[in-house]
Parts: sequence; C-alpha cells; structure tokens
Amino acid sequence: MKKAFVFDAYGTLYDLRSVEQSVEAVFPGQGSLIAHVWRMKQLEYSWLTTLMNRYEDFWSMTLRSLDYTLRSLQLAANEQLRLDIAATYLDLAPYDDAVVCLDSLVPHRRAILSNGSRLMLSALAANSRLERYLDHILSVDADRAFKPAPQAYEIVEQALAVERSDVVFVSSNGFDICGAKSFGFTVVRVARTDTSVPGPRVAPNNMDERLLRPDTG
Ligand code: LAC
Repeated sequence: MKKAFVFDAYGTLYDLRSVEQSVEAVFPGQGSLIAHVWRMKQLEYSWLTTLMNRYEDFWSMTLRSLDYTLRSLQLAANEQLRLDIAATYLDLAPYDDAVVCLDSLVPHRRAILSNGSRLMLSALAANSRLERYLDHILSVDADRAFKPAPQAYEIVEQALAVERSDVVFVSSNGFDICGAKSFGFTVVRVARTDTSVPGPRVAPNNMDERLLRPDTG
C-alpha cells in the first residue's frame, strides 16, 4: 500500500510568525511576547483539558489562552478586538516550501492532522489556498482529545483506512513529534524557527516580570 503523508498545521505547514506580526500591529513592541505566551498557554490548556477529559475545541483554547495572555500582561481588549486578534489563527501564511512539498507528494495521499477545530482548519485551508493540495483535513475534534494523546492520531487510521506503519507524519512541534512517534507513525521532523514558537525565545535574563504573577486563568 502507498504511504500517506500527514502534516501538522500550526508551525509546520503554517508560519506562526504571522500571529506575532498581527499582534504587534495592535500592541506595538509586545507582539513577540504576546504571541509566545499565547501559544504556550494555548497548548497547555489543550493538554490539561485532555487530561481532565473536559474537551473544548481549539478555538475555545485559543480564546481562553488569549484572555490569559492579555490579562497577565495587563493589556485591555474589547470583545471585538479580542475576536479580531484570535482570528489571526484563521488566516496564517503557509511556509514557502509547503506547496512545493505537498505538490511533489502526488500520488500519495496528503492530509493535515491538527489540534485545530474543523472550522478553524477549513478557514485556514481556504484562506491560504492550500486545500487543493490536501486530500484530507482532519481535526482532533473527531475524537475529542488533543495531540499528543494516542486517540488523536488514531483518527488518521480511521479516516484514511491505513495502518499506522503506512503513515509518514510531518511536524515541527516537539510534543507532536514525540506523540506521533510513540503512536507508531514514521515521523519526519521539520526544523522551523526556534521550536515553532512564534518569535525569539524569551530568555530567562529578559523575562518580563509580569509573566511571573500567579495565573488567574
Ligand atoms: C496543530 C498544532 C498543535 O496540531 O500545531 O496544528
């Protein structure tokens, strides 16, 4: 049987630096910090809700983590601005190599498996015009557990009717690489900026003290 190639979305096919740029336009000088904290919290919330068996989709995680980020940095946003900022996750630029790579994989099947909700992923694929290069767009919504939970990766076997040994999984996110490998996929790690966290690392010696305040989220 031919291999199926399955890609992570955020930070792998799609460049999260566009989040930083959008936020920077709203809060000048803080785009990198906001995008960084937001992404970390978005992932943390997704893992915690999976552990607690209290799944809410990734759009909810995205909004809640944005709220945490703005609150912890003492930044104000009304409801419309909050939604506008969150909507940057619906319209991200693909990396330059994404189309070339996906196109070159024909006739193998090509899919996304993402923690993104179905609605987030369909908006993302349509806005970026990547949908024509993808045979399947799979959201973990189907099994209500976020990667790296094994049941999230099982969605690929069910949707594509493949054995895990026939799947090549491509990601730049460390947690996803570990999860996919542990599940039994062959994994290709793509080296993107830093560790797919938008913007430069927040080094301990320039940590913003506001981040050290207790999490009220
Ligand atoms: C994704 C995120 C978690 O699943 O990178 O696309």
